[in-house]
Amino acid sequence: MYIDTHCHLSGEDYDDIDNVIEDNKKALVDKIIVSGCSRESIDEVMVLKEKYDMVYVTIGYHPEYADIITLDDLDYLKKLLKESKVVGMGEIGLDYHYGKGNKEKQLWLFESQLKIAEELSLPVVIHSRDATQDTIDTLKKYNVKGIIHCFSGSLEVANIYISMGFLLGIGGVVTFKNSKLKDVVKEISLEKIVLETDSPYLTPVPYRGKVNSSKYLEFIAKFIADVKNVSVDEIAKITSENASSLFDFTK
Ligand code: NI
Repeated sequence: MYIDTHCHLSGEDYDDIDNVIEDNKKALVDKIIVSGCSRESIDEVMVLKEKYDMVYVTIGYHPEYADIITLDDLDYLKKLLKESKVVGMGEIGLDYHYGKGNKEKQLWLFESQLKIAEELSLPVVIHSRDATQDTIDTLKKYNVKGIIHCFSGSLEVANIYISMGFLLGIGGVVTFKNSKLKDVVKEISLEKIVLETDSPYLTPVPYRGKVNSSKYLEFIAKFIADVKNVSVDEIAKITSENASSLFDFTK
């Protein structure tokens, strides 16, 4: 059975969410962790977790909203983080892909949320794009554990995050022809990897270009199994154990 540690599941992207959930079950997906990372999507995922057994959630404000998030929004987040099936915070982090114009605001939002996660002892799901050094430096200031979502860095960076106690979220990118991620995955311990789809984005080969879904986790797992030269069952088992030891699914 698979656990999708990071995906998005909005009515904007899927016509029929009942169907998505049924397809997941057929594809041996046991649990999915849906991320709500805007004001609107946080409210949306809080409804989904009540409706579907397999849905757990992480919530937190994505760096792209750094300019609009207020102290009231942070209070609201803190309140919701205490609810059942809210197993972590995220995706939170830093994103300098479109420039560093609001870097100070991004750092403020990131640190404000890390403080809350630390206080509530909740794992964090980290979004870091073109911001590796600042992400590492900021995380080091807080006593938090979690996942580096959609990890795509070098082996050196992978080892830094692992030494800090983080797991690496590996998704469809590993299957892309020009990705060097498989070389990194080959070198790191399976105990440090969790699977994710980041659906509806980053669909793995052979469905690259189509709308992604947690049901495609098996293609990511098969690819990693080949790279690591172990069975796909072993990949499913170990990555699910890794996710279950990080997230409290009894909450
Ligand atoms: Ni995401």
